[in-house]
Amino acid sequence: MSTEPVVAGIPQMGYGTWNRPSEEAYQGVIWALEAGCRHIDTAQGYNNEQDVARAIKASGIPRSEIFITTKVKPENFGPGQVGPSIKESLEKLQTDQVDLLLLHWPSPQNKYPLEDYVGQFLAAFDAGVAKRIGVSNFTKALIDESVKLFGNRTITTNQVECHVYMQNRPIVDHCEKLGIPITAYSPLARGAVVGDPVLEEIGKAHGATGEQIALAFLMAKGAIVIPSSGKKERIISNFEARKIALTPAEIKRIEGLEKGMRLVNGSWCPVWDV
Ligand SMILES: NC(=O)c1ccc[n+]([C@@H]2O[C@H](COP(=O)([O-])OP(=O)(O)OC[C@H]3O[C@@H](n4cnc5c(N)ncnc54)[C@H](OP(=O)(O)O)[C@@H]3O)[C@@H](O)[C@H]2O)c1
Repeated sequence: MSTEPVVAGIPQMGYGTWNRPSEEAYQGVIWALEAGCRHIDTAQGYNNEQDVARAIKASGIPRSEIFITTKVKPENFGPGQVGPSIKESLEKLQTDQVDLLLLHWPSPQNKYPLEDYVGQFLAAFDAGVAKRIGVSNFTKALIDESVKLFGNRTITTNQVECHVYMQNRPIVDHCEKLGIPITAYSPLARGAVVGDPVLEEIGKAHGATGEQIALAFLMAKGAIVIPSSGKKERIISNFEARKIALTPAEIKRIEGLEKGMRLVNGSWCPVWDV
């Protein structure tokens, strides 16, 4: 049996595949699986679900041992579209059921009503397309509305931007109060943490890199983390970060790196909680 850390049934360290088209996604997933990682994060919008599936198949590791997350993109939130789009994802992923299915974004500019696309999403879940469901990029208000709409179903996670430079306290604290774990995306601030003197100094005490400390910090806070890299040695070292145990004093020091540096803030985003 695996002894990897798990949060709400999700392996706490995963491999992200955004912006990794075809062969890059294929190779990255192969390396992540070789490193021991068993949690892969993809999305309809990444156009690489089929490459993730190819890599899983080529690895020879049984499907049942790999945790797959995919996400429904808002372009598929129209009437009658959510279920068929999930069916297409399952075909691309060569599986009958994903381990976690997320709504990737709230509908930009409220083009589609929340109750409508959440309703379609829940109907697909009830029909068995996913073991768990959750949301991504949902604000406090949207989480509160979703809690009501989900009824007795669990919001397994809210996947949001979270890293040492933007610890996203408002939504993280709100979800914590509701017992909803956070999945931290862009956990390395898309590479911005490289060379941070505080992280490097703490890293020295653990025989680790600053990037590993940035990931260990988020895990110590209870978040699931899904770093991405196209380089084998970085994929291995990122995955090794789960072995680092930081002291309370180190955690406090890293909390002080907060500088509100939000990286994902386009026209499609909701009004973020501050
Ligand atoms: N739900 C959402 O809306 C959403 C949004 C964004 C991301 N995500 C998910 O979160 C995943 C991760 O986020 P992200 O890709 O935005 O950012 P990230 O994981 O914070 O950073 C990735 C960047 O950091 C570099 N990097 C990775 N490991 C490194 C290391 N050990 N040392 C130095 N540089 C390193 C990578 O470059 P190299 O490739 O050159 O190593 C890449 O440029 C995505 O792949 C995706 O699955 C979800």
